[in-house]
Amino acid sequence: MTITLRCPVCHEPLAQSLPSSGSGLGCSQNHQFDQARQGYFNLLPGHKKRSKNPGDDKTMVQARTRFLDKGYYQPVADSLAGILSRLSESIENPLSILDAGCGEGYYTERLQQTFPDASVAGIDISKPAIMACCKRSKAIQWLVGSVNDIPVKDQELDVIVSVFSRCDWHEFARLLKPGGHLLVLAPGEQHLLGLRQVIYETVRPYPVDKLLEQLPEHFSLTETLPVQGDMQLNSTDDIMDLLAMTPHYWHVKPSQKEKLANLGALQCSFDMKLYVIQRA
Ligand SMILES: C[S@@+](CC[C@H](N)C(=O)[O-])C[C@H]1O[C@@H](n2cnc3c(N)ncnc32)[C@H](O)[C@@H]1O
Ligand SMILES: [Zn+2]
Repeated sequence: MTITLRCPVCHEPLAQSLPSSGSGLGCSQNHQFDQARQGYFNLLPGHKKRSKNPGDDKTMVQARTRFLDKGYYQPVADSLAGILSRLSESIENPLSILDAGCGEGYYTERLQQTFPDASVAGIDISKPAIMACCKRSKAIQWLVGSVNDIPVKDQELDVIVSVFSRCDWHEFARLLKPGGHLLVLAPGEQHLLGLRQVIYETVRPYPVDKLLEQLPEHFSLTETLPVQGDMQLNSTDDIMDLLAMTPHYWHVKPSQKEKLANLGALQCSFDMKLYVIQRA
C-alpha cells in the first residue's frame, strides 16, 4: 500500500503514468512528475521555491547522518516508536504515517521498521536530505516538497510525525483522518545545554513553543512526555557534527567554533518534549 498523492500544481489526485511513459506520476491536467533514479519524487514546483536550494544543505545532511548513525539519539527514536506502538493499538491497521520535515530519514526508517505493514512517507524541502533518505530505505515513499503544501490527498493519514521541524496546522488538519494523531518532538528548556555553555557567555532556556500551548482548532494535546538523556561525545568530529545539526551552526562566531573544535570531548545532555496531539 502507498499513500495517495495529489498534484502540487492543481491539487488533483496523482496516479502512476502509463507504463510507456516510464515510472512517473501524472494528474488529470497532465502535470507530470518523473521518479528520480534514486527513487524519490520531486513534488516541489519551481515557482513555489523561495530559494534555489531550499532546506538543509549537503554538509548539514551528512553531519546529521554521521551523528545519528552513531546512535546518540537512539533513545529518542525508541521513544517515538514506543509511543506510536501504544497508540497503534487503538487505530485500525495497517497505518499510514507521514514524517513531515524528515531530514535524512533516520526516524522515518525506524518507524517503517517498527511498522513493516504500514504505508510510510517522508517529505522534506531539501533535495540532498531526500537523496540521503533513498540510501536508508526503499520501502518508504520519499518526497521533495514543502510541509506548507503537502502533496498528499485529504484525510489520508493516521499519523503525522514532526521532529524538530516546522508545523503547518492547516495542512496537518487537512491530511489527518478524524481521530488521527500528530507527534511533535521539540526542544525542552535545557536542550543541549553542554554545547550551548561552550558557545555562549549567557545561556538562556530554550523558549517553549507557544503554538503547542495554544493549539489551533481541531487539535487537542493528549500527552506531553519528556525525552531526556546524557551523551558523552569523545571526538571533535562528533562535536562539530552535533553543532551542524542545530540552528547554532548559523550563529556561531569563528572564535566560538574554534573553542568547540579544541575540546576533543564534551558531556552534553539532550532535553526534548514529545507532544502527543489528536485531531478531532
Ligand atoms: C532540524 S531538521 C530535522 C530533520 C529530521 N526531522 C531530524 O530530526 O533528523 C529540519 C528539516 O526541515 C526541513 N525543512 C525546512 N523547511 C521546510 C519546509 N518548508 N518543508 C519541508 N521541510 C522543511 C529542512 O530541510 C530540515 O531537513
Ligand atoms: Zn496537476
